[in-house]
Amino acid sequence: MTTNPNQALWEKGDFTRIAAGMRQSGEALVRSLGITPGLEVLDLGCGDGTTALPAARLGARVLGVDIARNLVDAGNRRAQEAGLPNLRFQQGDATDLRDLPPRSFDLVVSIFGAMFAPRPPDVAKAMVRVTRPGGRIVMGNWIPNDPTLVAQILKISAAYSPPPPEGFVSPMAWGVEGEVLARFGGADIAPERIAFARETYTFDFAGPPADLVGEFRKFYGPTMSAFDAAEKSGRAGELAGELVALFERQNQSATAGTTSIPATFLRVTVKV
Ligand SMILES: C[S@@+](CC[C@H](N)C(=O)[O-])C[C@H]1O[C@@H](n2cnc3c(N)ncnc32)[C@H](O)[C@@H]1O
Repeated sequence: MTTNPNQALWEKGDFTRIAAGMRQSGEALVRSLGITPGLEVLDLGCGDGTTALPAARLGARVLGVDIARNLVDAGNRRAQEAGLPNLRFQQGDATDLRDLPPRSFDLVVSIFGAMFAPRPPDVAKAMVRVTRPGGRIVMGNWIPNDPTLVAQILKISAAYSPPPPEGFVSPMAWGVEGEVLARFGGADIAPERIAFARETYTFDFAGPPADLVGEFRKFYGPTMSAFDAAEKSGRAGELAGELVALFERQNQSATAGTTSIPATFLRVTVKV
């Protein structure tokens, strides 16, 4: 049993089930990164390799680091099945990358990964420390109060969950440009070295929106926690109803009985 609540949150679910519907966007994002053979890449908060695998397929030497042991194991299995000796996964915490040598990666990528770690100023410093001068950090961060899927899931879930402990900093603050500038500023990165863009990630699922909600309920740590709390107050049905209505509203699939939901995120590029 772990005593790290952040690790416990992600290990209690099985993010591979959600990630299965995010592969196409992961591949598209990686194609936009200008990866060349031999590039040293760290994928931080990598899950089971949605971005790490395509980066390795392009010839990069990729290390995936994630706090959840089940996802590290799943990533290593996928690397082996794909025959990618240039890709490996190990457990680690984005708040403290001291096991990794300084200035050792050309590209640090973290797509909806490091944003979920506690102590964001430490995370910014850790990412900068392991990046080579002249290298880049690329983060994908969900945006608070955005009308698209993920921000709305979190907003609905929050209404069914106990208030966060004092001093809690929402992961979504990584989706606010001013916060990002301040956090990297604390790691000696000047604002002109940081660029922002709004991009889209799509959640694809071979069933109707209600079934995708079921997958989140069973396998996505943060949604599982919201349902745990809602069950205690007898409101789980209400929470499920709100989420199904949200997913149905946002579904843009042209094929009946299937789901395709685009969600907007903030892409952050830092020149180190
Ligand atoms: C929403 S998932 C995204 C996974 C992956 N990047 C993807 O796009 O499929 C968030 C990931 O961040 C990981 N994570 C959360 N806190 C972390 C931390 N402190 N250090 C490293 N990874 C962390 C979780 O275990 C999980 O795999």
